[in-house]
Amino acid sequence: MGVCLWVLALSVLTLPHGQASGKVEHVQYQAVFCQTGSPKGEYTQNYDDDERFHVDLDKKESVFRLPEFTKYISFDAQGALGIMSTCYYNLKILMESWNISAGENVAPEVKVYPRNPVELGEPNVLICLMNTFFPPVINVTWLKNGDPVVQGVGETDFYPTKDQTFRKFHYLTFVPNEKDEYACSVDHYGLEKSPLVQFWNAEVPSPPSEVRQTVICALGLAAGIIGIIVGTILIIKGMRQNGGHRRGVN
Ligand SMILES: *[C@@H]1O[C@H](CO)[C@@H](O)[C@H](O)[C@H]1NC(C)=O
Ligand SMILES: *[C@@H]1O[C@H](CO)[C@@H](O)[C@H](O)[C@H]1NC(C)=O
Repeated sequence: MGVCLWVLALSVLTLPHGQASGKVEHVQYQAVFCQTGSPKGEYTQNYDDDERFHVDLDKKESVFRLPEFTKYISFDAQGALGIMSTCYYNLKILMESWNISAGENVAPEVKVYPRNPVELGEPNVLICLMNTFFPPVINVTWLKNGDPVVQGVGETDFYPTKDQTFRKFHYLTFVPNEKDEYACSVDHYGLEKSPLVQFWNAEVPSPPSEVRQTVICALGLAAGIIGIIVGTILIIKGMRQNGGHRRGVN
């Protein structure tokens, strides 16, 4: 494996909104890593826990996390390429002079969940979240009934976290039904049993909705009965009063 990694949390630019209390509320930072594994490295700029953009090091261009970000930010990818070549250079020196081999592996926590509330037959997106792992080298495969799926898949790059580990999301667009079983299969050096397979399947239409229907029906019926009783009482009262009135007049 021989994964050696050099992480730089460079130029942390804090925005001290909470100056009065001396508390830092938001942090904007660029994160750079380079390693002997694949991917070779990454350059990102982030705001708190969210990525603003990363630089595609092969295409040499900035990739914004959301398209609308381009209205507010621009970034020349060349700037990142210079930083990356410094990173590779320093990595080589560090490995030679300090004789460092590999960083310590930390296995990912893996969760699979749908983006939207599941409705059978309604298109949705399954999310596979891999959290707090190190190094940023991971193999992820979506499985549908045990077979690999390559269509309708997507992924983010590696998001740096405060504790010097990484987070990554993979996506799968799908139409939930009762019989298909999905799984996110994750390979990582930190896992004892690899791959780690996290299953997901759509739940059969939930009884709660039936219970709710019954409750609504019962409430409606009760309201109706109360209405009839109250109505009857009012009618009887009205008749009595009328009768009494008449008697009084006579
Ligand atoms: C580097 O480490 C390896 C294995 O741990 C060792 O055999 C080698 O002598 C070391 N080299 C230097 C320059 O310290
Ligand atoms: C990912 O897959 C490649 C090719 O099958 C393999 O060489 C590599 O060791 C795998 N990486 C991990 C982290 O399991």
